[in-house]
Amino acid sequence: MANLLITGGAGFIGSHTCLALLQAGHRLVVLDNFSNSQPEALRRVAELAALEPLTTRGYACWATADQRLIVHQGDVRARQDLDPLFATARIDGVLHFAGLKAVADSIAQPLQYWDVNVTGSVCLLQAMAAGGCRTLVFSSSATLYGHPERVPIPEEAPIRPINPYGQTKAAVEQLLVDVAASHPDWRIARLRYFNPVAAHPSGHIGEDPHGIPSNIFPLISQVAMGRRPVLEVFGNDWPSADGTGVRDYIHVMDLAEGHGAALALLLAEAPQLLTLNLGSGQGHSVLELVRAFAAASGQPIPIHFSARRPGDSAVSIADPGAAARRMGWRTRRSLGQICRDGWAWQQANPQGYSA
Ligand code: WQD
Repeated sequence: MANLLITGGAGFIGSHTCLALLQAGHRLVVLDNFSNSQPEALRRVAELAALEPLTTRGYACWATADQRLIVHQGDVRARQDLDPLFATARIDGVLHFAGLKAVADSIAQPLQYWDVNVTGSVCLLQAMAAGGCRTLVFSSSATLYGHPERVPIPEEAPIRPINPYGQTKAAVEQLLVDVAASHPDWRIARLRYFNPVAAHPSGHIGEDPHGIPSNIFPLISQVAMGRRPVLEVFGNDWPSADGTGVRDYIHVMDLAEGHGAALALLLAEAPQLLTLNLGSGQGHSVLELVRAFAAASGQPIPIHFSARRPGDSAVSIADPGAAARRMGWRTRRSLGQICRDGWAWQQANPQGYSA
């Protein structure tokens, strides 16, 4: 099994992927600045992976007793935080989740998004090169497709981001093309997520957005819990069956398993640049999602139709064929499972990890 560095490993997708990687037998070093996540998520990951309780090894670092999960508080933009991780032990591969991901925030604060998402990735790649590690799984996003010409969207679709968040993902993807061209010994996977949602079925880890969520799934969850009175539905005049936006929602555990499959492929095959959509290939409208969540939770979800949100597309659905062909991976969890697992997390953690 491999020794892996996970940047942003305490975040929503990072924590679920850490669990899947630990259960696959890997050893993990996590670097997270906890700017949009909590150490508690990793303590719970250790519990779910049946690892010994975390022991404190000093302010910026703690580990499980068997050292299979070691956590450092630090920033991917700081070589002084990165370099020691490669010097202390052999790192066979890096999964890079650390980054900012809210579209509206990126429009308000483009400089911060370019700094964290792009400068952070440049710094990480420099530390990897200096540390002798050339295997990387990069957390990319379907946002870089912008307004798709056709759906389902294949990897060959034009890259036309329409917001700074998408621009930063496209910029890092281009950086990885350049690195792969100049250093053919690198093994790189660029994984383009569609809409990650839900939570681990235990309800013990899940999505815990700081402040007011921008994505629909945590908002629906909070309306079902009674933390919000109503869900604003952005537009009911879209060119879809019921007039509401259609998206490709992917269970976060399917996404986590997709990362494990991509890592296994990189470690097993010759150096390459792999680019894959991670989605279900199925679209569901906002109203379909609301109905599914109401059925799963047994709670009413009051809605109010409002104007379309600037920058939204009508439909975004993945063509997931390449991931199936290249690594035998497809989503396995249904929309009903997505809603049941999301509700289990919300019910057990009404205030997320804070409580
Ligand atoms: C989904 C649908 C909205 C909120 C974004 C990023 C993408 C990825 C996932 C990181 C749309 C509708 C939403 C609300 C609503 N993140 N909606 N009321 O915009 O598809 O994708 O998050 O990688 O990169 O772009 O996700 O959850 O915001 O919206 O009606 O209060 O729900 O119009 O149709 P989106 P979303």
